[in-house]
Amino acid sequence: MSKVFLNLGRQPLANSFLKDIGKKTLQNEFFYNLKICFNSKNYLVSIAKPVNPKKQYTDKYAHRASESKTMRFAFKKVAQKLFKRFRPKKIMEIGSNDGVFLKNFDKKSVVAVEPCKNLARLTKKLFETYDEFWNLKLANKLKKKKGEIDLIFSANTISHIPNLKETFKGIHNILSKNGVLVIEDPSLLKVLQNNSYDQFYDEHVYVFSSISINNIIQEYGLRLFDIEHLSTHGGSNRYYICKKNGKYKKSLRLEKAIKNEKSYKLHKIESYLKFSKRVNLSRKNLFTLMKKLKKTNKRIISYGATYKSTTVFNYCNLNSKLIDYVTDTTLNKQGKYTPGTHIKIISPEIGMNNTVDYAFLGAWNFKKEIFKKEKNFLKKGGKFITHVPKVMTLSK
Ligand code: TMP
Repeated sequence: MSKVFLNLGRQPLANSFLKDIGKKTLQNEFFYNLKICFNSKNYLVSIAKPVNPKKQYTDKYAHRASESKTMRFAFKKVAQKLFKRFRPKKIMEIGSNDGVFLKNFDKKSVVAVEPCKNLARLTKKLFETYDEFWNLKLANKLKKKKGEIDLIFSANTISHIPNLKETFKGIHNILSKNGVLVIEDPSLLKVLQNNSYDQFYDEHVYVFSSISINNIIQEYGLRLFDIEHLSTHGGSNRYYICKKNGKYKKSLRLEKAIKNEKSYKLHKIESYLKFSKRVNLSRKNLFTLMKKLKKTNKRIISYGATYKSTTVFNYCNLNSKLIDYVTDTTLNKQGKYTPGTHIKIISPEIGMNNTVDYAFLGAWNFKKEIFKKEKNFLKKGGKFITHVPKVMTLSK
């Protein structure tokens, strides 16, 4: 039923930046095999052997959703939109990160669930936060304590949880009769169209499509009734889900989205096998380009120490021989080293200087924001390299 179509090789945990590159640290670095498979029965695309979440969501978790202006704005906008559309009395977020979404509501009406203790600590000061993994046990505990929830929001989290059965059963148990579950996750269609294979990394156990979500949730008494396409994370979908007997009608745009995915053959293994060939070619082209530039003494750095660049660096064998350093605005990434490839991370204030010829767009999904910020680099002849949708250099 499930067939592996893509092998991205030996990979470290994408957000496990290293404090030092001493012998002991490197000996303890964790690696796993990143293989992606397609289930022809429910159309789910997933990691063949997911990593244990307890290894990933620790009190050292590096990703901060508030780090980008684009994301802060996007979360504020969706909070306002959902409040206006559904008028929820009680709101819960699964995977609340640093509170970038829930901050936009009345603090008394919200509950946050965030297993990374360093992040949960940040929001505990602002509103009720449970530093636990989302599962059936927690759902039942919260239901007893808080009653039913009218709006459950979860961005870039449900796709991270291996056990979908517990996830959706728990949601069904705590959701009010006409309550709504809104989830946002990268779009599989966009991944195939953009060749953005770097959406696959240890935390993305699943990359959903509307056809797979539609199939899975039905098993747990839930129903998909609407969808929105978003530009965040290089193309995501916002899925609107209610209980099987909830009052919401299936939207036209959902019907269109399902039709569109089927016309792109997201329900056929052949599409994934073709994608895999394109990914292989992308690896070859990126490595060749960087080698060629390096031979002519060009200085290459990388922009944004992202989970995506972890996949790309490790899959394409890009290390400190090709990339001098990585810049990132996140304070707790600066001074550390990239997972698996051990390239130093520094601040963009220091790193984006006149000696740089090319910067690989590790954060390609923030291209607009970055091009605006780095107009001087571009003006002076600096170029960016990207692999999305194909390997190329970008200038002013
Ligand atoms: P993500 O793609 O893993 O969500 O993270 C984006 C990373 O890129 C985050 O660590 C911040 C970094 N970044 C920069 O360094 N400069 C920028 O201009 C932007 C938008 C992001």
